[in-house]
Amino acid sequence: MAENVSDDRPKSIRGPFIGALSIGAALALTLGVGLVLRLFLAGYRVPVGDFSHLRHVHTHLGTYGVLFPLMWWVWKTNGLRIPGPWALAFYAVAVVVSAVGFAQSGYGLVSIAGSTAVLGVWMLSAWKVRDQMRPDGGWLASAPLAILTGALMVPLVAQAASPERVQAVVRSFLSMLMLGALVPSALHRLPAPAPPPLVWFCAATAAALSVGAVAVAPLQLGLVALAAMLAWALWRAQAPLDLRLAWGLAAVGMLVVGVGLVPMDRQMAVAGTHYLVLGPLLLSMTRLAVPRRLSAAVRVGILVLVAGMSAAIALQTLAPGPYWGRLAAWTGIAVAVSWVGLSLVAAVSGAAKLLGVATRD
Ligand code: HEM
Repeated sequence: MAENVSDDRPKSIRGPFIGALSIGAALALTLGVGLVLRLFLAGYRVPVGDFSHLRHVHTHLGTYGVLFPLMWWVWKTNGLRIPGPWALAFYAVAVVVSAVGFAQSGYGLVSIAGSTAVLGVWMLSAWKVRDQMRPDGGWLASAPLAILTGALMVPLVAQAASPERVQAVVRSFLSMLMLGALVPSALHRLPAPAPPPLVWFCAATAAALSVGAVAVAPLQLGLVALAAMLAWALWRAQAPLDLRLAWGLAAVGMLVVGVGLVPMDRQMAVAGTHYLVLGPLLLSMTRLAVPRRLSAAVRVGILVLVAGMSAAIALQTLAPGPYWGRLAAWTGIAVAVSWVGLSLVAAVSGAAKLLGVATRD
């Protein structure tokens, strides 16, 4: 019996521990680089080197190293299959290689090789949950198809004729992953009742195309449809009020862009992406990792800061003025510090829980 305990303990702790540490490191780096970029854009003297290279590091590390691993964590804790330890180790190396490649030379041989390996593991993860693609598959049913559709957009980036076109296609690619796979996984965590998966997937595809590669009005209806489905799900969700508020604001954002009340340009895309990621998405995905007594007050505080930062970025387009850049930078600092603090709290309480579980084993 005693032998079993000592055999099991490292096995049960090592995986989650390394996983959490890797996500935490990627999050800290993403936030740190984002902060430097934001201060630079606000006119502060900070050493950024090549801005576009550093921007690539930030966006790719955030997507590869934070958002996808967190999504897999949600899948795993809901009993779904994810890539095994060797595939995840390979993935971690690919993420580091791509980040170094982006830092050195932007889209170059090294970053493309790393990103191709990352895409391979994404496809493997989609394959592993393919059984989920059924009418009663819930929120996670659209994820495999969304990852595949996102992957199909990658060759379009290579064929794009101008830098603006590249940006537009990349935005659609990112939005496809966000709306088709990451957002549904976070909503699954709430938990909220899911709409018919095919309807969600079609709306997400139309919305993703409309904000970038195919910016035509009829496709914007995808955003309106997503907003309606989100509102319906939130109405019936058994989630804390603050999380419903966070997602409710996201639905309002989708609606106003969808009906054309506000234009969709680069600033608006950056504002929307950061609200969604740093607000409802991360708050929902990390919900169970944060001690319950801390969570409500902290979640509301973070949400207010994230909304302030995103509003400041959006106002640079909606009501241009000299102060918004600095406001975005200072609220950005507060957001980054809050997420680092919350991650540390989650790490300590997670370690205590893991040790508790292992001791009981
Ligand atoms: C996990 C956290 C984060 C993720 C996953 C993330 C992801 C992204 C993505 C995908 C973009 C490209 C958006 C687009 O072009 O549409 C981006 C751009 C950017 N992010 Fe973040 N971000 C995170 C946190 C932050 C934070 C906390 C800050 C600032 C304090 C920040 C500052 C920036 C800046 C300055 C840009 C470039 C904006 C521009 O080119 O105008 N990010 N980020």
